Amino acid sequence: MAKAKAEKKTVRFVDTTLRDAHQSLWATRMRTKDILEILEAVDDAGYYAIECWGGATFDVCMRFLREDPWERLRQIKAVCKKTPLQMLLRGQNCLGYKHYPDDVLERCIAKMCENGMDIFRCFDALNDIRNLEAAIKGVKKYGGHAQGTICYTFSPVHTVANYVKFAKQQVDLGIDSLAIKDMAGILTPSEARELVTGLKKALPDLPIEMHSHMTSGMAPAMYMAAVEAGAGAIDCSVATLSGYSSQPAHGTMHAIFEGLGYETHIKTDRITEIDNYFKKLKPERALKANADAEVVDVQVLLHHIPGGMISNTRSQLAQQDALDRLPEVLEELPRVRKDMGYPPLVTPTSQIMGVQAVLNVLSGERYSMVSNETKQYVKGMYGRSPAPVDPKLAKKILAGEKAITCRPADLLPPGLPEAAKALDPKLIQTEEDILSYCMFPEVALGYFQWRAKPEDQRDPIPADSELTIAKAEAQAKAEAEAPKPAPLSADDAKFAVIGKQFVSLFGSLGGNIKVDAAALATPVATDAAPAAEAAPAAAPAAPAKTLNATLTGTFYRSDKPGAIMVEEGATVKAGDPVCCLEAMKLFNPVKATEDCKIVRFLVKAGENVTKGSPIAEIE
Ligand code: CO
Repeated sequence: MAKAKAEKKTVRFVDTTLRDAHQSLWATRMRTKDILEILEAVDDAGYYAIECWGGATFDVCMRFLREDPWERLRQIKAVCKKTPLQMLLRGQNCLGYKHYPDDVLERCIAKMCENGMDIFRCFDALNDIRNLEAAIKGVKKYGGHAQGTICYTFSPVHTVANYVKFAKQQVDLGIDSLAIKDMAGILTPSEARELVTGLKKALPDLPIEMHSHMTSGMAPAMYMAAVEAGAGAIDCSVATLSGYSSQPAHGTMHAIFEGLGYETHIKTDRITEIDNYFKKLKPERALKANADAEVVDVQVLLHHIPGGMISNTRSQLAQQDALDRLPEVLEELPRVRKDMGYPPLVTPTSQIMGVQAVLNVLSGERYSMVSNETKQYVKGMYGRSPAPVDPKLAKKILAGEKAITCRPADLLPPGLPEAAKALDPKLIQTEEDILSYCMFPEVALGYFQWRAKPEDQRDPIPADSELTIAKAEAQAKAEAEAPKPAPLSADDAKFAVIGKQFVSLFGSLGGNIKVDAAALATPVATDAAPAAEAAPAAAPAAPAKTLNATLTGTFYRSDKPGAIMVEEGATVKAGDPVCCLEAMKLFNPVKATEDCKIVRFLVKAGENVTKGSPIAEIE
């Protein structure tokens, strides 16, 4: 007797190759042309959705690649006819690192829908439902699929019961599905089973998608447990862009689930074709600095740093010439997180906590340097922390200011009219440009000005000058093949040492400054802070006293575009903020080290400065 074939269980795969995977492994450096060349195969691979857009891709497009992120979205949509496009939306933070007014957020969502986005994974770093309201309602209003999110972390206050409560709040706002976002790869299989079982019991009709990172190596086992407990989709990437701090590979998960009798809809020959393409591209795109990441890092189970953040922290420390302090920063981070009421570490809290940990280690005294963002966080401007911030610390950081208790965005006036007014009409090509400006004013402006120049007068594209694996290999080869120099005479050798000191001094300022013979005659102090010594030697009239950069970063007169913190000639007290250094994506105030007069600034807004170099002449 013929028996009706039992209906196969199904698990769907969402592809993260074009977003999270290259954000985690290639510092988000995938170009639009890289995507377009293989996109037909991606669209045909049988994925449930293609994740291809989000905050970091948006920022990096303009900042480092000199591309219009909106144009990328349109071009991807023009090719993808079979598979829905998916993006990561940071709730009220939209694509940025702070809360935006409701009018800006709504207009962004409308434009994203119009340009072809289908599925919006909306998350809030603090799991504060008030920060998701406007995003979820906006997505529903403009016809998108609203996916809610639980940002997974563990702490004494993060329980299954609390997560289920948070999921129900999102269902009440109208979400179509729910993602469990394990951004650090710390969700264990047993906890995943418990969490998904709890959610399925309370909300049986809510589709659940799992998102994780391979950092600790647990993700495939976790996916398996979650799917067996009722999750319907998992996030994976092609093999070349999988593993390490990225997602598990499609191929691995396909084999696991096929063996368990699941239908995946994945076309394995297509996945191989796509993987071969990215394998060839990898040396051109992966940065040398990120190439030596750990295959498996079980330390993550202690420090909870999410995928993209580890490589960020490493390059931030390298920028500050303090890469050797990484272990201390990783130890400091859980302490900062506890002080701050156990926020999950995901953008923007990952940046805020990460930079604060870096500042706590580099300054030598915890919280003696506090970024503006840390202060805003403590003030409640990012939402409610899962547990209260350490009261003593809150008092110190707020310094008399009062914390807020309302939805932070309720305090923001509409942002679109002002943005439209602030922008030079000659620089704007589309309405999307205004939205890009709202998200990242300095970055967008830099990109617009670059774009406005005739092609042959544009500065080089920042990403093109970065050290990729391919360039590092070429350099090593050239060095190995270079003819060995003849041995130096004793006199020449002495001169070369002084010259070398100068090259290393000026080299550390980032420019290609030629060593002039007269300068070589000046004695060089070798044990002093290099950059601080170099500048006075270069300028004929050396300023008597200077305020020096506390970090390596971009100098600004204020943390608000167009505004100025302290006028030249003004008198300030020790501890007063004088200007800002944008480093590690955050604005860090530079404070006066003593009561003094700010005679003049020695650098222009937007210029890069090195830690220790003079930024203002003081009296
Ligand atoms: Co992720």
